[in-house]
Amino acid sequence: MSNSVRPLRIVLASSEAVPFSKTGGLADVVGALAKSLDQLGHDVTLIVPDYFLMRQSAKGLPTISETGLRFTIPMNGRSVAGTVNWTQLPGTGVRVLLVRQSDYFDRRQLYQEHGHGYVDNCERFCFFSRAVLEISRQMILRPDVIHCNDWQTGIIPALLNSQYANRPGFENTSTVMTLHNMAYQGRFWHFDLPLTGMDWRYFNHHQMEAWGDLNLLKTGIAFADQITTVSPTYAEEICHPEGGYGLEGLLRYRNRDLVGILNGIDTDVWNPGTDPHLASHFTAETVAVGKPRCKSQLQQRMKLPQQSGTPLIGMVSRMADQKGFDLVMGSADRLLSKDIQMVFLGTGDPICEGQLRDLALRYPTKVAVEIGFDESLAHQIEGGADAFLMPSRFEPCGLNQMYSLRYGTVPIVRKVGGLADSVINYPSDTKSPEVGAKSLETATGFSFSDYTNEAFAGTVERALQCYSQKSIWQKLVQNGMTSDWSWTRSAESYVDVYRAAQGRRSARVAERRC
Ligand code: ADP
Ligand code: GLC
Repeated sequence: MSNSVRPLRIVLASSEAVPFSKTGGLADVVGALAKSLDQLGHDVTLIVPDYFLMRQSAKGLPTISETGLRFTIPMNGRSVAGTVNWTQLPGTGVRVLLVRQSDYFDRRQLYQEHGHGYVDNCERFCFFSRAVLEISRQMILRPDVIHCNDWQTGIIPALLNSQYANRPGFENTSTVMTLHNMAYQGRFWHFDLPLTGMDWRYFNHHQMEAWGDLNLLKTGIAFADQITTVSPTYAEEICHPEGGYGLEGLLRYRNRDLVGILNGIDTDVWNPGTDPHLASHFTAETVAVGKPRCKSQLQQRMKLPQQSGTPLIGMVSRMADQKGFDLVMGSADRLLSKDIQMVFLGTGDPICEGQLRDLALRYPTKVAVEIGFDESLAHQIEGGADAFLMPSRFEPCGLNQMYSLRYGTVPIVRKVGGLADSVINYPSDTKSPEVGAKSLETATGFSFSDYTNEAFAGTVERALQCYSQKSIWQKLVQNGMTSDWSWTRSAESYVDVYRAAQGRRSARVAERRC
């Protein structure tokens, strides 16, 4: 164990985790982080809701068994019962506890249907958060740290500072709150406060209240011992009004305890050398042979002409305001006047889905669109596309640009958040011709700053020019494929944060005693 004193007992709490449930990057991150922490020698328990109906149709899950544990949570005057199932994260020693409560979690989706959040989301995830503590207590997990993720787990640090502060089993428990996206805060009307189990005296603008609402993410930020977010650049962005979504003041106040740690990727799952979804496997040495086969597979699957020399640009994304689809639509005619093909996979905003379908109808030989969530196609787009689009308005970290780098698919990104921290622009932004000439040594993709159609379309055109210069393109592909995005370094940074959280907690307890 590298940065060790002794192994830590870590509880990771999340509303989704691969391979059990997924709507976006949070699931990938939590599943892969649990695995890496286990590899570093720590004792890891992952606690997630049991979306029982959804997992019935999932493929490749490990066997899940009942623990026999039953618990109840007082939820606003009534007692709600839950049970706990368990399994192990495949190939690891990570214990996975799945919180079963059929009224809350046996649904068709995780958070919303037809663009509308479930009306009882506050109740569902307050129950889940309180279950994490109750299960930790009853199973005597005695965590050194509970690592909370996003608003769905935001009340855990608050409960540990109040009603659970003196409960046996939590004597040494500190909390870390990771912010994956400030745009989603879990804001609910104030009458939901009793669902949290917290006293009304905490409903003030320093702790649980924001603009009159109950705010679960703010609660986590206010009470956690340490706060992390998913890239160093995003850690700065969220301390300003544009990125903080109203919580920038609190984040500036807690700035000393806020760290940006770039996400990694699961290099077993996202490996073009072994990926079961690809027609052909390839590495940095064999990409010139393997990628054309994957490209042909993708063109065939998406019913596009099999033109090997035509640059194929892919995009896999939630269709949300964050992701920059308005730039894509605003530049589509200009870009599609050239010899290119585009493939889109995504679901979300119905207007955006409709616009993309129309685009495919207007350009049937150049644009293919799949509306829906399709893990296999996501891998095939990474494997078969030449370039990948992420023109995000903001992007806390982003995983697809890192998958792209690993798959020799050159990313074209907006220079924000984690995209700025993971993609090196070609040619470099420097004015020095000497440095500019050298920039091909390190460049891995293309980026732009202004959120305008002109900046976006101009950058895609710059990429297309480079595509026609084989030696430049091949070098960009090689640079990306040989860069390291594995979790190892980032997982060690999390361990440092856990230890800092422990230190902060001890200081807080000592203060209380004085
Ligand atoms: P975000 O979490 O904001 O959606 P990330 O880039 O961090 O963005 O992660 C998105 C993850 O979800 C990636 O693994 C991506 O491949 C996956 N994904 C997004 N949309 C789809 C989809 N429609 N089908 C399959 N996978 C998808
Ligand atoms: C969020 C962000 C994304 C990030 C992911 C995992 O969904 O939008 O940028 O990669 O969380 O941290």
